[in-house]
Amino acid sequence: MSKVAVITGTNSNLGLNIAYRLLEKIPFSEDITIVVTSRTLPRVRECIELINKHHSQLERVGVLNFDYVLVDFTDMVSILDAYYTLSKKFNRIDYFFVNAAQGVYDGIDWIGATKEIMTSPVEAVTHPHYKIQKMGVKSSDGLGLVFQANVFGPYYLLHKLKPLLVKGNCKIVWVSSIMSSPEYLDLNDLELLESDASYEGSKRLVDLLHFATYKSLEKEGIEQYLTHPGIFTSNSFFKFLNVFTYFGMLSIFYFARFLGSPWHNISGYKAANAVVNCATSDSKLLDSEIKYGSATTRAGNEYIISDKVIEHSEEEMGLIVSYFEKLRDDWDVKLKNQIKNTRQS
Ligand SMILES: NC(=O)c1ccc[n+]([C@@H]2O[C@H](COP(=O)([O-])OP(=O)(O)OC[C@H]3O[C@@H](n4cnc5c(N)ncnc54)[C@H](OP(=O)(O)O)[C@@H]3O)[C@@H](O)[C@H]2O)c1
Repeated sequence: MSKVAVITGTNSNLGLNIAYRLLEKIPFSEDITIVVTSRTLPRVRECIELINKHHSQLERVGVLNFDYVLVDFTDMVSILDAYYTLSKKFNRIDYFFVNAAQGVYDGIDWIGATKEIMTSPVEAVTHPHYKIQKMGVKSSDGLGLVFQANVFGPYYLLHKLKPLLVKGNCKIVWVSSIMSSPEYLDLNDLELLESDASYEGSKRLVDLLHFATYKSLEKEGIEQYLTHPGIFTSNSFFKFLNVFTYFGMLSIFYFARFLGSPWHNISGYKAANAVVNCATSDSKLLDSEIKYGSATTRAGNEYIISDKVIEHSEEEMGLIVSYFEKLRDDWDVKLKNQIKNTRQS
């Protein structure tokens, strides 16, 4: 029986490398269907071509199949449609990587960036504060856009897909960030509408949501892990750079690694290490209380750092669970008559 892996945001640098590494790590005799997700069809095609090319270089005998889902996590109807598509096509999901994410960036504060880089170059490219983010941006569903795209949207899809996840004893792997410290989340603003660091706040929410939910999922046979990819080259930030600033930033990344930063993986392949390791390792060797991060030595050799000290109080987790469950139930009601499952046979 073919295993099924869903990778959200498959066409990102990390998404593609999750697919590559997954194919390298699962038994070479195992058949697998990779479900590519994107908001647009041309990107789906590109991903399939690239993953197929990588697969052809491996000596796998297992069959690789593809399927795709077009989903926009800032649109609840699109999420519901993705659920219908997946549940019509598959009766189980074995791996689910929550990788897609977005911020609402408005450019770079170049003066701030220069100051940060001059004062502390490693810190400036590890915990940057010079990315300008718009505040108060809502989706057409009226939810905080970054909150919905990065946390609530994927959470809602996973909730709808629960029967398939149970059947596949699914391993859910959330992609968080090193930029997810508690300072970025105000518990009175869970939709991150008043935040000027909504991207970072959404990653803190991912951490808290994971800690608040993994135990109950475990009881249903679903394993959930929290990971982060360190720092690597990506479209979301690099699109604000020209050729000079791009290479400037890249050299500071290498310099930071040379000075001992473990997080400057730079390559998407190395960044996917911890993410795929959680999906493919024996669960006895893993611990859902840990946040697993992809890291690289000075010489560029990859390894994984286990962080056991991510703060998560009972109070925070209680608040998160009740907020998410209430919002989920509200959307179950709102979407009840919005679209029909016309694909049901
Ligand atoms: N780059 C880094 O250094 C870094 C550091 C820490 C954590 N991360 C995390 O690593 C993951 C991948 O990052 P990346 O930099 O490789 O990503 P990226 O290049 O910014 O690509 C984002 C991906 O997410 C998808 N996406 C964005 N908004 C979406 C939406 N509203 N609905 C559905 N899909 C959406 C995009 O899909 P389409 O455009 O095809 O629709 C795209 O595939 C993210 O979770 C990011 O937060 C990255």
